Amino acid sequence: MKNYVSASVLSANMLNLGSEILKLEKNGIDMLHFDVMDGIFVNNITFGLPILEQVRKATDITLDVHLMINNPAKYIKRFAEAGADIISFHIESESNAIETINAIKDFGIRPAIAIKPSTSANAVFDLLPYLDMVLVMTVEPGFGGQSFIPNMVDKIRTIRSKITELGLDVNVEVDGGINGETSAFVRNAGANVLVSGSFLFNANDMAAAANALKDEKLC
Ligand code: DX5
Ligand code: ZN
Repeated sequence: MKNYVSASVLSANMLNLGSEILKLEKNGIDMLHFDVMDGIFVNNITFGLPILEQVRKATDITLDVHLMINNPAKYIKRFAEAGADIISFHIESESNAIETINAIKDFGIRPAIAIKPSTSANAVFDLLPYLDMVLVMTVEPGFGGQSFIPNMVDKIRTIRSKITELGLDVNVEVDGGINGETSAFVRNAGANVLVSGSFLFNANDMAAAANALKDEKLC
């Protein structure tokens, strides 16, 4: 299975977002990860629709939107129109999961379910046939720059095993504290989409950092 890196915009220089995106594209980044927080579902407020619309106009890169909001179903249409390619929403939010997945698919967008560290793997099992991706949070959602929670590795392995057992083609994304070291743990457990914020943006050599995350050698 191919590995992908999704760069978390939360760690970018917001005043130079255009040039940051160009830099990401030049350095082998596959997707832009867009953390939308409402100050209710998580204890932080970030950015939303107007920025996503502007970013969509500036790039063809895959826009990977991670909704950390209370009522995601209400906003699927708006995020679809703003240009999302993937929408992840939390199973712990108050929206009905199947209805929200169907709403996302109706817009031709790839649906994903995100789970917090305290939510167990089997919470997503019944939904796997309807999903493009499962997002396993490897930190408590809310802030960039936190440390990876090691016991999430078993959860990733359990979800990947279930996907294989069911014969499905579902991506497993990990988000939070992913760096040159933790990326190996999560890849070995079956994750193939690696979100990275601080590790990628603080790297002196972004291309080398991206290749380390994907376990690809620079040529
Ligand atoms: C946390 C966000 C993450 C975060 C990752 O709630 O969902 O996407 O920006 O940042 P790092 O890679 O710095 O942990
Ligand atoms: Zn995220």
